[in-house]
Amino acid sequence: MLSYQHAFHAGNHADVIKHLCWLGVIKALKKKDKPFTLYDSHAGAGLYDFTDSLSAKNKEYKTGVSSLSNVSASCELLNDYITLCQRFVDKDAYPGSPIISVELKRDHDVLHAMELHPGEYAKLEANFAAYAGHHSHCHKRDGFEGLIALTPPKPNRGAILIDPPYERANEYDDVVSGIEGVLKRWQQAQIVVWYPLLSERAGAKHGASERMCEALSALGAPCFKAEMQVAENTHDAGMYGSGVMVINPPWQLDTTLSVAMNEVTGYIGENSTCRLVWVNEDN
Ligand SMILES: C[S@@+](CC[C@H](N)C(=O)[O-])C[C@H]1O[C@@H](n2cnc3c(N)ncnc32)[C@H](O)[C@@H]1O
Repeated sequence: MLSYQHAFHAGNHADVIKHLCWLGVIKALKKKDKPFTLYDSHAGAGLYDFTDSLSAKNKEYKTGVSSLSNVSASCELLNDYITLCQRFVDKDAYPGSPIISVELKRDHDVLHAMELHPGEYAKLEANFAAYAGHHSHCHKRDGFEGLIALTPPKPNRGAILIDPPYERANEYDDVVSGIEGVLKRWQQAQIVVWYPLLSERAGAKHGASERMCEALSALGAPCFKAEMQVAENTHDAGMYGSGVMVINPPWQLDTTLSVAMNEVTGYIGENSTCRLVWVNEDN
C-alpha cells in the first residue's frame, strides 16, 4: 500500500526539524574537501507547490516554514535553512529532502535518492532533470533494499536520511533492521531517522517511535534524539510533534541543532518546545 503523499505536509513543523538536521549533517561533511555520498531512502517528489490542491488543503506549511519567512536568525544553521528555503517559498514552493541535498552538495559529491511510489517517482525524476550530470541519481526502488545494495560508498564518507511514511505499523521494524544491515556494512555511516510523536489516539502506532528508538540505541552506535513538540500530548492530539534520531552524528551537531531548534520554537508557536538528549554517548 503506497497512498502517502508528502504534498499534504510539505514545509510543516516536521519538515523543519528534519531538514534542519539534514542540513547540519551536510554542512559538517562539507568541512573537508574529500567527496561524500548522500542517500535518501524515502525521497518523495523533491519539490512541492503550495498552490496545488494537496498542499493547499490544510496549508501545513503555514505553521512551519512560512513562520520563518524572511526571519533573520541569530543561529547560522537556521539562517542557512531559511536562506535556502526562501528562494523556493518566494515562488510558493518548498524543497523536499532530495532537492535540499542536490542544492547543497558539491559537484564531486554523490546523491542517491530512492522512491517507490510511481507517481512520486515520476515527479522526482522531473524535478531532478534540472540537476542532470551532477552525480545525482534517482532510483525507483525500495529504499531499504537500495541502502543495502548501494552502501558502503567509495570513499567511505557520507550520510543517510531515512524518512518513511510509517503508514504500516511494521515500517518501524523495517527501519531497525535496515539500519542494522547498513551498520554491518558501513560502521561509520551517519544516519538521520525521522519519526512522528503520536498521542494515544494513534492506537497500535502509539509508542511505536519510542520503541523504535530503543531498538536503534541497542545497536550500540553513538546517537542522540532531537524532538520538537508543537502541541500538548493529550489523548486526542494526534501527531503532536516529531523527532530525529541521529546515529554517528558529526561533531558538535548536538549543540548547533539545539540552538537552531530553540530559536525555531520561538517562531512557530507558543506551545512548541524542543529537547535534545544523547541516547548513547559518543566516547
Ligand atoms: C515522508 S515522504 C518523504 C519526504 C522526503 N524525505 C522529504 O523530506 O522531502 C515518504 C516517501 O516514501 C515513499 N515510500 C514509501 N515506502 C517506500 C519504500 N519502501 N522505499 C522507498 N520509498 C518509499 C512514499 O511514497 C513517500 O513519497
